[in-house]
Amino acid sequence: MEATQGTTAPRAPPRLPSIEDDPAWTLARRDTPLLERVNESLLTLADGFVGTRGSVDITRPGSSPAVFVSGVYTSREMPVLLQGPQWAVLDLVAADSLRCVLDMRTGALSTEQSGAGGTVRSFRFVSIARPGCTVLLAEGPPDMVDAGDALRAPWAQPGVTVRTDYDGGLTCMTVTGSTGDAIVVAASQRTIDSVGDPPARIIERIAAYAASTSDPERDRADPSAVAAVSATAAGSVLATAMRDVARAADLGFEQLWDEHRSLWAARWDGAAISIDGDPAIEFGARFATFHLLASVGSRGEAAVGARGLSGSGYGGHVFWDADVFMLPALVAVNPAGARAMLEYRIRRLDAARRIASNHGRDGARFPWESAHDGDDVTPREYRDLDGHIVPICTGELEEHIVADVAWAAWQYAEWSGDSDFLRGPGVRLITETARYWESRVRFDAAGQAHIDNVIGPDEYHESVDDNAFTNVMARWNLRAAADLVDDLGASAGTPDQVNNWRRVADTLVDGFDPVTGRYEQFAGFSALEPLLISELTDTPVAADLLLGPDRVKAAQVIKQADVVMLHHMVPDDVEPGSLSPNLDYYLPRTAHGSSLSPAIHASLLARAGRPDEARELLALACRVDLDDVTNMTGGGLHVATMGGVWQALVFGFAGVRANAGVLTVDPSLPSAWAQLDVRLRYRGCRLRLIITPDEIDVRTNGQILMRFGAGPARGSVKHTLLPSGGVFVRRESDWKRKPS
Ligand code: IFM
Repeated sequence: MEATQGTTAPRAPPRLPSIEDDPAWTLARRDTPLLERVNESLLTLADGFVGTRGSVDITRPGSSPAVFVSGVYTSREMPVLLQGPQWAVLDLVAADSLRCVLDMRTGALSTEQSGAGGTVRSFRFVSIARPGCTVLLAEGPPDMVDAGDALRAPWAQPGVTVRTDYDGGLTCMTVTGSTGDAIVVAASQRTIDSVGDPPARIIERIAAYAASTSDPERDRADPSAVAAVSATAAGSVLATAMRDVARAADLGFEQLWDEHRSLWAARWDGAAISIDGDPAIEFGARFATFHLLASVGSRGEAAVGARGLSGSGYGGHVFWDADVFMLPALVAVNPAGARAMLEYRIRRLDAARRIASNHGRDGARFPWESAHDGDDVTPREYRDLDGHIVPICTGELEEHIVADVAWAAWQYAEWSGDSDFLRGPGVRLITETARYWESRVRFDAAGQAHIDNVIGPDEYHESVDDNAFTNVMARWNLRAAADLVDDLGASAGTPDQVNNWRRVADTLVDGFDPVTGRYEQFAGFSALEPLLISELTDTPVAADLLLGPDRVKAAQVIKQADVVMLHHMVPDDVEPGSLSPNLDYYLPRTAHGSSLSPAIHASLLARAGRPDEARELLALACRVDLDDVTNMTGGGLHVATMGGVWQALVFGFAGVRANAGVLTVDPSLPSAWAQLDVRLRYRGCRLRLIITPDEIDVRTNGQILMRFGAGPARGSVKHTLLPSGGVFVRRESDWKRKPS
């Protein structure tokens, strides 16, 4: 017997695919009530547009189910990601045990709930072949499983309305935030009861999600028109969702599944990382790459919040996490995703100009935290554990984000070779941010430029002057803008402007001491209490909680990579030979109080020829979510840390660097690694590097200029041209053959 909502022709019942329990590619989680929220984050499925936490039985006390749509927020003043209708909820008779398996190869989640009455199995995916389309198949004894409504309203959020309609056999739901932005969904459902022995019920549910978002510029001009325009827009978006779900339902589960998993196979073909000799790191690398790829859409703009589409931590706001930690990985494995991330910034350039002007500056100042319209949405205060209100100053002071956005644009242009981008929106991002710094600096009587009153990446120290990271990144930004205008000619800027950018850059102090070979983190850092946090306690540690914020402010205790972040981001703009002295000095002072820190240090330790130490920090970065190291994973995955893991592996251990059209490879492998195998794209070519302690095997499908360094690992280089290939890799090699 078959009951169908919204589909046309009845067809044979689909069969639930089974997931092969391969520990290198699957993450299995059993019923652990205390870890319910953590597991729901880890098991998130997303297609870059819709993200669904891996909740199975939402009646359980620890459950925190949610579905998010990229870039759709609740409100303008205190925006958090809007929660959309839930598509994966089934009405089940309570089961005694639950087991879930996430298959990273195919981007699917299978679940098994068993009880006295039998076992209910389900299988779900969020289609990357048709972003916005979600698919659920469930099977179990008829008296244990009931399909219920195809869509369930999300948990209540203040100021959010939910409307349900039934139309043409489809269930439709619209969830609207106070800005008028809405998540619109149409769902179809088939229930098939078979009378075999034992009898079984199969439920096939397909939904199409769409976003109805307002144009922030238009809304700003006429706020009173927002509600009416939004309602009309949501109506037409619903018609699109209904059309999409009808098409998908016509194809049916089997076809949707086939197209989805073949696309995941193709994705992995261009992005898989394998490590012989280190299954823990290999798994961490795959887990990170899986969630990075899933968190970022490739069309239009991608607003990638600090927790991706896996949770509402940090409200889903966009930080430097996106530009500096995620984008460099994306640009090498999914350049279209990186371009969409930049599109998010480009469309908020006017908002950034307004913020600069409100601060009395020129150019564009991107906000520390942003959401839909590009205004600064950083909270201004929080309540600490003792109930005290504590101000949050990052929105006002963490200005390095301005240069970070410019740097991301440069990275994208370098890796993709997309010259249209560079000539168009890229040059605007890079020059408008340079104009900001030009107007931001203060000149002293001796003609030296300073940047006063900022917070660097190390957020334990607020209101500091001349933070080396901020100043060197601003200097890089000014010089990059000048170089670009020189290259592109008069249409991009005037000679006077270029000269002034260079003058400001040349006079910006950076705190470098040639005697020690170190940068002072900010003016006065060396005079603070010389406390080595690594001798006081194990790291990572929230040193501000351990020692109290006042002690930490007065001491040389650092939250996360700050000075050394420069060696990671702009190694050509720091003093040659300064990596090791700075690492030696700052690492023991670093608490890793931010999850962003360990992977960057791992990358730099590998670059400094200390790969075994580097591996330990990389292992920590890999475990951040898998072991809920920060106790924050329940609120969503640390996707920036995942970007850091990828960067450590590729930029640190494989030693890959892209600069001016040349890709350098200079590996440094831990002693336990027999082989590191990474796949990338550079300037439109596919590239595979298979690195052993003795050899680098380069496989490309086109021409790439490469250089091989004389790093700590030495050996020979061989090159294979893939069948689809073009011409030859030209080797500018100073690689030394291993002495026999
Ligand atoms: O952007 C980070 C910051 O560097 C440290 N605190 C958390 C933010 C969001 O991840």
